[in-house]
This record gives sequence, C-alpha cells and structure tokens, in this order.
Amino acid sequence: MNDLSLAHDRGLPEIAFTVNQHRVVVRAHSMDRLLDVLRQRLGLTGTKEGCGEGECGSCSILLDGVLVNSCLIPVGQVRGSNILTIEGLAADGRLHALQQAFLHCGGAQCGICTPGMILAAVHLLSKKPRPTMEDIRDGLSGNLCRCTGYMQIFDAIAAYAGRADQ
Ligand code: FES
Ligand code: FES
Repeated sequence: MNDLSLAHDRGLPEIAFTVNQHRVVVRAHSMDRLLDVLRQRLGLTGTKEGCGEGECGSCSILLDGVLVNSCLIPVGQVRGSNILTIEGLAADGRLHALQQAFLHCGGAQCGICTPGMILAAVHLLSKKPRPTMEDIRDGLSGNLCRCTGYMQIFDAIAAYAGRADQ
C-alpha cells in the first residue's frame, strides 16, 4: 500500500466486527461490499465471487447465523456482527467433517461454488440436523453449481448428516 492510499484510508471510518471468532477493525467506505473487504482487506479469499449480483450464492457467508450473499452486503451494515466464512470451519489444520464429506463424495470440482455450498449446508444443518433430501435441495436452492450436477453435493450433505446421526 502506498502513502497516498494510506492517507486515503485514514479518512475512512473504522468498522469493527468479528470474523471466525477474531475481532477485526477495517477502515472502509460503509458502502464497500463485504465480499471485497473479506477478500481484499482481510485476505479471506475462500469466499468466492461468481455473479456479483446476488444470484449465484458463491459469496455466501453466515452473518449472525443467517445465510447471506456477501456481494450484496455493505460493510457498514456488519458493525458489531459475527461472521462465519469458510476459513472458520477447519480447526487445528483439519478440515471440518462436512468439508471431508464434500471431498469424499466428489462434491467439489472447480471449487468456485463450494465454500458457499458448504456454508449454506452449515446453515441448513443448524436448523435441521437431520434433513431430508428435499430439505437439502431447498436449503441449497440459492446456490448454483456449473460443474457437479448437484447430486454429489446433496449426497455429501446427506452423508455428513447421516454420520452426525450416529
Ligand atoms: Fe454473490 Fe453471486 S457473487 S450471489
Ligand atoms: Fe464448479 Fe460448483 S464445482 S461451480
């Protein structure tokens, strides 16, 4: 970052929130997209941009437990909020079991949709720990995938939920 942009940043408001259980403070325009702040300012590039206009779900995150498209959220709106991105799922260098299920079932190909799919699944499973296949289809209806044909994704979530039942 050069001196000019530093000077520019100093004129911007501080916006504090929590990401993956870490408190962060960024200087940004209130209307900057949360997606850009996560990726470019905080280095959390696991959140992907697909359409950039709220149609594909690639940029899905959990905002105070609610599944949202981060490309549509102005960062000024998340002051004091708790955000979960895909980076917050793995612990101690080990993938979350849901991520493992995606790997095992072939639920990820190019990977652009995968973080959003997994966070949509986390949201669904927080409401319905034992989802039916119809629940899974409904829960992921806002997330598009160009590669897998969806069945491997649905199977991964069903496999994880079955495992969680045991
Ligand atoms: Fe946000 Fe497509 S990039 S919904
Ligand atoms: Fe490529 Fe879903 S794996 S868009």
